[in-house]
Amino acid sequence: MTSAPTIRLLKDIDEPGLATLEVYERLGGYAAMRKAITEMDPDEVLQQISESDVRGRGGAGFAMGKKAGFIPKGDMDKYLVCNADESEPGAFKDRVLIQRNPHLLIEGCIIAARAIGANKSFIYIRGEYELQSDILEAAVAEAYEAGYLGRDILDLEFDLDLVVHRGAGAYICGEETGLLDSLEGKRGNPRLKPPFPANAGLYQGPTLINNVETLCNVPLVIGMGVEEYRKVGSEKSTGTKVVSVSGNVQRPGNYEVPLGTTIREIVCGLAGGPPEGREIKCFFPGGSSAPVLTGDESLDLAYDFETMAQAGSMLGSGSIIVVDDSQPLVPLALRLAEFYRHESCGKCVPCREGTNWTVKMLERVESGEATPMDLELLQQVQTNIEGNCLCVLGDSMAMPIGSMLEKFRDEFERHAEEARVRNEGALVEQGAPELAASPRIGPA
Ligand SMILES: Cc1cc2nc3c(=O)[nH]c(=O)nc-3n(C[C@H](O)[C@H](O)[C@H](O)COP(=O)(O)O)c2cc1C
Repeated sequence: MTSAPTIRLLKDIDEPGLATLEVYERLGGYAAMRKAITEMDPDEVLQQISESDVRGRGGAGFAMGKKAGFIPKGDMDKYLVCNADESEPGAFKDRVLIQRNPHLLIEGCIIAARAIGANKSFIYIRGEYELQSDILEAAVAEAYEAGYLGRDILDLEFDLDLVVHRGAGAYICGEETGLLDSLEGKRGNPRLKPPFPANAGLYQGPTLINNVETLCNVPLVIGMGVEEYRKVGSEKSTGTKVVSVSGNVQRPGNYEVPLGTTIREIVCGLAGGPPEGREIKCFFPGGSSAPVLTGDESLDLAYDFETMAQAGSMLGSGSIIVVDDSQPLVPLALRLAEFYRHESCGKCVPCREGTNWTVKMLERVESGEATPMDLELLQQVQTNIEGNCLCVLGDSMAMPIGSMLEKFRDEFERHAEEARVRNEGALVEQGAPELAASPRIGPA
């Protein structure tokens, strides 16, 4: 790590009027685009993105340059799609980037489209982000007006259209192929892969899909150059990350840190740690779909893609949700499972049935009807969902719930037992002791 500036994406975020072209350009905006279009050929741009090793900030952490490199060369309709669906519980960093700095994203889209030879691009934005969509549309209109979008950009032979498309509030439309179907006007269901979007994406054409934050890194790479870009972050997780910290912390919010910063610095330093007198019970390091880590084992780990994977979880979208020791885990797990059941598109059985059964079994744990066998079954259901779904929505529930069951099994058992005893007490009070004494279904 060096003394290179570590606040990059959020650098000017509090500058009044940053969402306007005038202020953005005054602060150096669109210089990287000019450089990419007038001084570099598309292959060079792609090469720089690859050498920067910038990894996807939307979930999987896949190297952007590698993915862009899969797009076939040649004269054909190709597409650049920005994923601004941001529906993962705990994630709210794309929202702030779009709202405060929309031209950075537009500039990133133009450079990325140039690199892959796309002439059509789309930003698919979460339906609930109405304010952000309005701001983005106004910024896109300004970019057209300035000649940065449309025909013969910068009077050179490069055309690019950019359309802001509003979603309708479905989590599954953040999954890249569900997003493409939705963009095509169909119901947003994930597609079977392969083929991958790089070969057959939007309207069956080669398509590069990247997250908002990933694309916002592109002007930085081109503007400062690969060497400077790589000075911040760790060897395999380069650059900074905007981390959304929420849950039981004193200062929830978005914090930009070099990848590789310790979780303790982020959660306890920047976000102020848990409320006075509370301890961290566990946290989700990468949004609600990441397996939980417990405070003891993990607060001193480096927050980067490899370390999170080695610890048995993932960095995902870069959203840390903190759970302190005042929070019972069963209602939390139930709320999570209800979310994924609601959002499951229902196309594949393991996800459709698995999320539903998980909710039903957690309801039994919560209400005191569960037997120890239910917890065993609950764990098995999670194992059977993982890796067996059409997309990873099912896994996104199975991984965190499975990890909670594994790490906090005694709490789940205690919760079930306490609820059962409470029920029995209530029955005795209501004058029905024989019902209280009746055997439960399943082994004791
Ligand atoms: C159910 C589900 C929801 C997702 N939601 C989002 C999302 O809201 N935003 C996003 O960027 N990626 C989301 N992803 C990941 C995308 O499928 C895809 O990997 C990502 O947009 C690629 O961009 P990146 O390489 O820049 O990260 C989701 C994945 C799944 C399975």
